[in-house]
Amino acid sequence: MSPRPVASLRDLAPGEVMAVEIDGHDIALVRDEDGAVHALEDRCSHDDIALSDGDVDGCTLECWKHGSQFDLTTGRPLQLPAVQPVTVYPVSVDDTTGEITVDVERTAP
Ligand code: FES
Repeated sequence: MSPRPVASLRDLAPGEVMAVEIDGHDIALVRDEDGAVHALEDRCSHDDIALSDGDVDGCTLECWKHGSQFDLTTGRPLQLPAVQPVTVYPVSVDDTTGEITVDVERTAP
């Protein structure tokens, strides 16, 4: 299955996060404060909480429930209570149209 278009860059300002669903995968689509777009599994590894309800801080997404911050590039938690990473999916952005695509069949390196 090929990467899927999920949103436009103009719908996601730096520092914002939105929830999207692709083929049954819940994704937190995040634009970091430098403008780069990331796609993470939308479920905190500590409990069944949507990370898309959290806050973007620099290049991290903070779970609102207990405050673990997840690195947007690696998916790793940077502090307790979460200890397991969340899945990060490859993202591409069309320079001309601003269309954001996510590939849920692969994980980001
Ligand atoms: S549910 Fe996310 S840190 Fe606890």
